[in-house]
Amino acid sequence: MKRKCFIFDLDGVIVDTAKYHYQAWKSLANELGIDFSVEQNEQLKGVSRVDSLKKILKWSGRTLDPIEFQNKMNQKNANYIEYISGMNTSELLPDVDRVLKYLTNKEQFITLGSASKNARPILDKVKITGLFDAIVDGNDVSKAKPNPEVFLRAAQQTKSKTKNCIVFEDSVAGIQAANKAGMTSVGIGDPKILHEAQYNFQNFKVMSNDFLEQLIKK
Ligand code: BG6
Ligand code: MG
Repeated sequence: MKRKCFIFDLDGVIVDTAKYHYQAWKSLANELGIDFSVEQNEQLKGVSRVDSLKKILKWSGRTLDPIEFQNKMNQKNANYIEYISGMNTSELLPDVDRVLKYLTNKEQFITLGSASKNARPILDKVKITGLFDAIVDGNDVSKAKPNPEVFLRAAQQTKSKTKNCIVFEDSVAGIQAANKAGMTSVGIGDPKILHEAQYNFQNFKVMSNDFLEQLIKK
């Protein structure tokens, strides 16, 4: 039997939390007298907390001393945690449950490859932790996307070859990481933004079971 390793990003792929990251960074930036656009926000998707703040500061030409930098990261995360505190199963993105069920029934490996240090509590809140064969998140890696470390670890944990891994991603950094790892990259979101992906879907609603079958048999 063919057993592929399906690697899901979390924020913006499984749950609609990309908007909470955006809001939390936006209010922190505004407090510092900085503004950034929705287009610039695309460059923050998939990027670790520390690299996100570095980027925001770089865009504005601002600098912070190390203590302030740490305080601002803590502040952003506290704000983000407030946003996600009330999350429940209704915040799973459309058809994620169908795709997860289909792959589970087909006995495929289901793994998480997320930059977030908040990934595990979010999976618990939406009650899908038990579906995963491996969970790799921001606490487990030292190199952030676009470095492929997070996906390579998911492959290692399921003893899968990289050519047998398929990554679902909503971020440019994540698609680049999947491509660098030699994995199949599937963009979930705007195909213009995610044009480096091998396959593109606006969301899981438009991804058929036939396509999933094609990935399994590939
Ligand atoms: C990624 C998000 O999944 O996780 C980024 O796309 C976020 O926006 C990153 O910065 C790190 O998340 P956290 O929860 O550890 O700050
Ligand atoms: Mg994402």
